[in-house]
Amino acid sequence: MSVKRVGVLTGGGDCPGLNAVIRAIVRKGIDPYGLDIIGILEGWKGMMEGLYRPLDMKEVSGILPKGGTILSTSRTNPYNIEGGARTVKDNMGRMELDALIAIGGDDTIGVAAKLHEDGVKVVGVPKTIDNDLEGTDQTFGFDTAINIVMEAVDRLHTTAESHNRVMVCEVMGRHAGWIAVESGIAGGADVVLIPEEPFTIEAVCDTLRKRHERGKTFSIIVVAEGAKLADDSMVLKSEERDAFGHVRLGGIGNVLGEQIEKQTGFETRVTVLGHIQRGGSPTAFDRVLGTRFGIAAIDCVAQGEFGKMVALRGTEIVSVDIKDAVSKNRTVDMGLYDIAKVFFG
Ligand code: F6P
Repeated sequence: MSVKRVGVLTGGGDCPGLNAVIRAIVRKGIDPYGLDIIGILEGWKGMMEGLYRPLDMKEVSGILPKGGTILSTSRTNPYNIEGGARTVKDNMGRMELDALIAIGGDDTIGVAAKLHEDGVKVVGVPKTIDNDLEGTDQTFGFDTAINIVMEAVDRLHTTAESHNRVMVCEVMGRHAGWIAVESGIAGGADVVLIPEEPFTIEAVCDTLRKRHERGKTFSIIVVAEGAKLADDSMVLKSEERDAFGHVRLGGIGNVLGEQIEKQTGFETRVTVLGHIQRGGSPTAFDRVLGTRFGIAAIDCVAQGEFGKMVALRGTEIVSVDIKDAVSKNRTVDMGLYDIAKVFFG
């Protein structure tokens, strides 16, 4: 059976560049491929509940610079719901979909990989500001996020310097510290703390004391929300788990800030950037990467290449086996972290 009608969905946390991917899929899907492209609303929730709307050229006109996703998103997990995979398949039949393109991070692509094993024709597109998906050198959304954090760190520098303060900046990064490391290097942070390397507050305080001994009167610390203390513990906002089993992280910045002030006597302030990192217009890099991913995804569909995730390898766009992309998280290259460390203190 040749493919005629293709569903496209965005799942998990949103990120800048999603609309660039959707636009590329619709544009090339319609012309030259002559496919019907159906937008599934609210990620896997839309596949469970049959929420959709056809996408035409007009629908995607003007969306390239827009943040978020015109299709809405959710963290629904069909495999966490009794009979969920069956419902997705039944709704594919009802919507007359021949194939699905799932744009998402490890959770969304994980569901796509399982559906592929269950016989569904799927193609994945790697998205997340965390940049922690295996199989691709970079996800779209990450470049925008690190530029937002870099600008925040630049701004924190001038106020830190004026007030002789320590500024702690908490950034996203659940399992991997890519945002912290790259924005920390770009912004000239004095300490960067990441999930991959547990830390002690005492060691951070020692670094700050040494820096102040050599005449510096202010310091900038970038800490990933998933950064672990030496006993491997993380600071949680809530123990409650989402449909994929994730607890809500957040609060490490405040814990750190309080202890730094207490142990060193240096006046300290904490900034939690939170969802600002995921909002707004994508950078040129993310618009181009999103566009290239969207084109590659619809090419895969047109060529009948399913069970794949499109990926960036070096400067080339390739497709990799979808199950390999979700086998583990892609953590920070410790060589890059060593570069950040050269500038600590
Ligand atoms: O999408 C990844 C991410 O941005 C993580 O960095 C963060 O921990 C999480 O999403 C926040 O999720 P929510 O939008 O549900 O608060």
